[in-house]
Amino acid sequence: AADIASDLTTVLVTEEQIHEKLGQLAAQVESDYEGKNLLLVGVLKGAVMVMADFARHLTRDVAMDWMAVSSYGSGTKSSGVVQIRKDLDTDLHGWHVLIVEDIIDSGLTLSWLLENFASRGAESIEVLALLRKPEAAKVEIDCRYLGFDIPNEFVVGYGLDYAERYRNLRDVAILAPHVYA
Ligand code: PRP
Ligand code: MN
Ligand code: MG
Repeated sequence: AADIASDLTTVLVTEEQIHEKLGQLAAQVESDYEGKNLLLVGVLKGAVMVMADFARHLTRDVAMDWMAVSSYGSGTKSSGVVQIRKDLDTDLHGWHVLIVEDIIDSGLTLSWLLENFASRGAESIEVLALLRKPEAAKVEIDCRYLGFDIPNEFVVGYGLDYAERYRNLRDVAILAPHVYA
């Protein structure tokens, strides 16, 4: 419904919690990548909010590029089939790559991306994810910079969608089952 509140049950992570965490992660990244060429790769479309806010917590210069992949379509379950909708514009040679994601759910998207990036000549490849659902993991992802572990519920907001909606919510919240039932 246009009135968002009736479509949600519980707020899991608030805007304030997100911004505090992104500040902490940015400080870690700045120290870990001192003197290195850092390229942030945002995974469209879910990572738009994390990328924009995380990047602005950094005081150093970074390059930013985007990859568009999708595995969920309009459902609530990962299809496991990852499609490239837009590839990187950047040749990864000489770059330390930090992939920026909104969520690790089954892990299939990142597992596929990491394999896809492995042969592109980057100096290093690490992952930053705002959210992770440990109970939903089908493959283990080595995530160097993690925001929050959350329960295995369908969540929306702060970039995460259901059928392209709710991405603009400022918090991360559980979608009420009546919305997708
Ligand atoms: C969502 C989310 C992650 C991925 C995580 O993207 O943004 O990219 O699923 O799920 P997984 O760990 O089970 O692979 P989605 O495919 O919905 O595309 P979107 O970012 O455009 O919403
Ligand atoms: Mn995504
Ligand atoms: Mg999605």
